[in-house]
Amino acid sequence: PWGMIVKNMSFKVGQTLTLVGTAKPEASHFAVNIGDETDITIHMNPRFDHEGDQNTVVCNSCQGGSWCEEQRETCFPFQQGEEFKISITFNPSDFLVSFTDGSSFSFPNRMEKDKYSVINVDGDARITGIEIK
Ligand code: GAL
Repeated sequence: PWGMIVKNMSFKVGQTLTLVGTAKPEASHFAVNIGDETDITIHMNPRFDHEGDQNTVVCNSCQGGSWCEEQRETCFPFQQGEEFKISITFNPSDFLVSFTDGSSFSFPNRMEKDKYSVINVDGDARITGIEIK
């Protein structure tokens, strides 16, 4: 049960996806997923308190129904009940994820496609703005 899903879209190399939203007051986690109808090339999962992680962003890909290798970030510019803005720039071989406090990290484009058709946001966040430019 996805909170927000956009299908049949076109997010291509060279573009930046910007998402604005609000974490729920008692949020445990939420996730932004980008991929196609079957796989996720980037799962960006801020965990306030979830599966043993506190205030950690966990990233991964999911291919053929299996989670691949996790990458954990040290930056965590999210607060329960507060607005956030996430920018994801699609470079040929990686995604550059940036936050409004100036922190950023990159995650490899493991599926190696130059265009993805599905974005969804799941979990304890409400999306109020989405833009691809
Ligand atoms: C799992 C979790 C998934 C996803 C994955 C990322 O433990 O259940 O929702 O976050 O980690 O590796």
